[in-house]
Amino acid sequence: MAKFYLTTPIYYVNDAPHVGHAYTTVTADAVCRWHRLLGDDVLFLTGTDEYGLKNSQAAEAQGVHPQLLADRNSERFRAAWDSLDIAYDDFIRTTEARHGNAVQAFLQVIYDNGDIERDTYQGLYCVACEAYYTPDELVDGNCPIHGRPVQLLTEENWFFRLSRYQQRLLDYFEAHPDAVIPPTRRNEVLGFIRQGLADISISRSSFDWGVPLPWDPAHVAWVWFDALPNYLTAAGYRTDSERFAHWWPADYHLVGKDILRFHAVYWPAMLMAAGLDPPRCVASHGWLLVSGEKMSKTRLNQIAPGDLVADFGSDATRYHLLREVTFGSDGDFSYEAMVARYNADLANNLGNLLSRVATIVATKCAGVGPPPRPQSPLASVAAEVYAATADGWGRLVPSDALEATWRLIREANAHLEANEPWKAEPGTAVDAVMGDALEALRIVAVLASPALPHAAADVWRRLGLPGSPVDQRLPAAAAWGGYPGGLPVEKGTPLFPRRK
Ligand code: ME8
Ligand code: MG
Repeated sequence: MAKFYLTTPIYYVNDAPHVGHAYTTVTADAVCRWHRLLGDDVLFLTGTDEYGLKNSQAAEAQGVHPQLLADRNSERFRAAWDSLDIAYDDFIRTTEARHGNAVQAFLQVIYDNGDIERDTYQGLYCVACEAYYTPDELVDGNCPIHGRPVQLLTEENWFFRLSRYQQRLLDYFEAHPDAVIPPTRRNEVLGFIRQGLADISISRSSFDWGVPLPWDPAHVAWVWFDALPNYLTAAGYRTDSERFAHWWPADYHLVGKDILRFHAVYWPAMLMAAGLDPPRCVASHGWLLVSGEKMSKTRLNQIAPGDLVADFGSDATRYHLLREVTFGSDGDFSYEAMVARYNADLANNLGNLLSRVATIVATKCAGVGPPPRPQSPLASVAAEVYAATADGWGRLVPSDALEATWRLIREANAHLEANEPWKAEPGTAVDAVMGDALEALRIVAVLASPALPHAAADVWRRLGLPGSPVDQRLPAAAAWGGYPGGLPVEKGTPLFPRRK
């Protein structure tokens, strides 16, 4: 059994979750569900990032203690993920004791190895990013990510000697061409490293909302130096060496392009400095845009995931996020596009196939599903669809995976139209066509289950099959011929009622 350890970013608790966060988390969830179908041993980690200046300023603005704000907003992330059926294995909060201990142990190792030293630094700081920028990185004098003013800070601090890792990082990426995907992001990372890496200030003494440095408790760790090791904490770093050896290195860190540098440059160097392996792959996606601008807490143009779930349901919201934007590129989020895709893919293609099949089985097959034909023309389509679906999920491009799966739905609908079983008298010919269509639906239920867990289980049940799609194992469950026939088929109400 292969192990599969995938993480999302841990989100700041300065505000509520929005659809941008949901995009990463739903993608992560669907990919993990796919790997569970493959029989992999999966660890899916998400959580919240609770220390640092940004969170502490947000708490101050609301007149509450930062822990209280963290408690409240962390809960809102959990609630959003519950409403979207996110099946994480662990939800980590950086203010938990298990994490503080791991961060201190991690810092101490790097300090003992000589890569954390005292120094003075002056630079342009963006609080929203919790990061310094060089003057030429600014856009019109503002932060390139948030478009807001930066401030000049001078600090006498502890520094991580990132500059010592420039060549090692370049060698590492040379030897591991898939360590950052997609390739455009890898090139961005290589370009950044080749420009030359400056040491980074990793402690703060101007405020105390953070993890104290074990050797200098007057300083707290810079929030990124405490956030990134969450991936270690959850894997058992320094508390369970067997567990840690099993899970580390992580297979995928899913991140937005806004935090690529932290994950693909700083983090591997920090891990090298602590004598640990870098993650196997940092997979960086684009931004969901609203009218061309990044959806963000800082810009106040966010859409709450809960509003979409209330309107469209969890499955349809998940499907839209997975299908509409190609992983890696930016994509505009629009309500109109969501309705259009819902009607086309869910109501018309999938919903229609199910309701047609159930109706014809009820009227022409006495409500009992016939078995498929081994030589069905849909059998080879199903085999190609499985291969293409597996390839899409394997490359972390859910839109490709779903497009591939939907081909089987379209071909099954076309198969019905070509044979017109609704016009024929009950008998062998109708049974043959309906058995094929039922088998196609069974396979679709398995292949679509990472995106549509409820609908997939519903289709499965209506076909009269025992258990549920999540209990199935691939590739066996995608092999043609699994529908046994002789099962009661339920018509029920429309799976995805058409929307106006
Ligand atoms: O950066 N489109 O937290 P954060 C797509 N705490 N994805 C988006 C998005 C958008 N418009 N907006 C946000 C932090 N995201 C740190 C991370 S990890 C050790 C610490 C997603 O609350 C995307 O995954 O600002 C992005 O990288 C992440 O949310 C940033 O969340
Ligand atoms: Mg952000």
